[in-house]
Amino acid sequence: MPKYTKFLQRGWELVVASTAVVAAIDIPARLVLDYETLTRVTRPDWALTIIFVADILLNLRRAGRTGKRSSADTSESGYPWQWFAIDLGAAIPFAAFSAPPLLQLLRLLKLGRVAQRMRHWQRAELHNPNIVRLALFFFWLALSLHWLACGWLALRGVSPDFDKATDYLRALYWCVTTLATVGYGDITPTTNAEVMYAMLTIFLGVGVFGYVIGSVASLLANIDPARVRHREVVEKVKAFMRYRQVPAGLQQRILDYYEYLWEKRLGYDESTAISGLPPSLRTEVSLFLNRDIIQKVPLFRTASEDFIRAIALEMHPVIFMPGDYIIRAGDPGEEMYFISQGSVEILSADDQIVYATLKSGEFFGEMAIVLSQPRMASVRAVDYCDLYVLSRTSLERILTRHPDITASITAIAKQRQGENGSIISTSSRTMHRSV
Ligand code: CMP
Repeated sequence: MPKYTKFLQRGWELVVASTAVVAAIDIPARLVLDYETLTRVTRPDWALTIIFVADILLNLRRAGRTGKRSSADTSESGYPWQWFAIDLGAAIPFAAFSAPPLLQLLRLLKLGRVAQRMRHWQRAELHNPNIVRLALFFFWLALSLHWLACGWLALRGVSPDFDKATDYLRALYWCVTTLATVGYGDITPTTNAEVMYAMLTIFLGVGVFGYVIGSVASLLANIDPARVRHREVVEKVKAFMRYRQVPAGLQQRILDYYEYLWEKRLGYDESTAISGLPPSLRTEVSLFLNRDIIQKVPLFRTASEDFIRAIALEMHPVIFMPGDYIIRAGDPGEEMYFISQGSVEILSADDQIVYATLKSGEFFGEMAIVLSQPRMASVRAVDYCDLYVLSRTSLERILTRHPDITASITAIAKQRQGENGSIISTSSRTMHRSV
């Protein structure tokens, strides 16, 4: 559906919903308080009929276009017959005929449509679904209070001592106090019908009260699910460390790590978070999440789209703390790393010589894989390091399809090997001389 058509449709839905809500407020109030809002010609009844009939015609047209009219489909574009009947019932201007006044309440059926649309809006709301849910709940609560107040007025009748507004306000006051289970007792039911009505309202009140408490509690708990989940994880780790009497210094490092994880990734493990997505979406999300590193690494700039897609899917983020050894010289090489943020030192096996310091956009750990040898140096994080790791199997699989990249990586690996050789021989000459 084109964007502007969707926009118009949304606008129209809003008009119908607002009209239905106005009708749901006005009709019951008019029936009990018997007021005339406007002249007979411009009475809202006619406006309602025009809008509701136009809505039926639009729905028929839309359903005709999609060919779903006869199905019981409740999707956006279908127009099931039960909804057609409801819309038709709500469109009849009973107030204009000498029909029983209660028939006017059929207009309220249109609220079923509004509720349907609201459920749809709620599902479509991704950012604050809980707030929307609570807002809708309060909307329905306010409307129910109005209806209950009208019902109470219908049972009691309007008092000759007060004007209509005061009558309504007192009825509303009785409903609020009864529904909120406060019940001051200053307005009490007298007839049997009123007692039964009061009991029903109290029952409703108990349900509403429970629902509000539950909803608010879950709203508060879910207002920031990432933070709640992260706090839970940290609390669990803290309890574990206390229980196993982990040394205080190590505990602090672990907590620092979680703090950094929260700052950088809101505590999420990105690969697990997207693992449930279908492959095409996963690739797209991975490309989006890894776009930083893909833009930073010079090697990727000249690489083909196919290579970028493959690598984006296979790379996983990891964090290292200052002083952590990422690689130990002599170990077998199973991963290669790309630096997104932070810097690392490349050290000789005895940590005495610093071969190089690598920064954001550079990579390491490739030599053991492409030259099939043990790790030739140790790698230590200088500060907090945000790295992307690629396993040997993934790298080998990707490289077999991209000989140009293999050649570039092998060339860099050989160049680094040569540099290290010359650094070692220079430093050993210096040591001999000083001895
Ligand atoms: P690898 O031998 O698998 O593990 C240690 C890594 O340090 C190595 O791969 C290289 O990626 C990196 N490295 C070794 N020497 C240098 C150097 N001179 N300059 C930059 N990086 C290096």
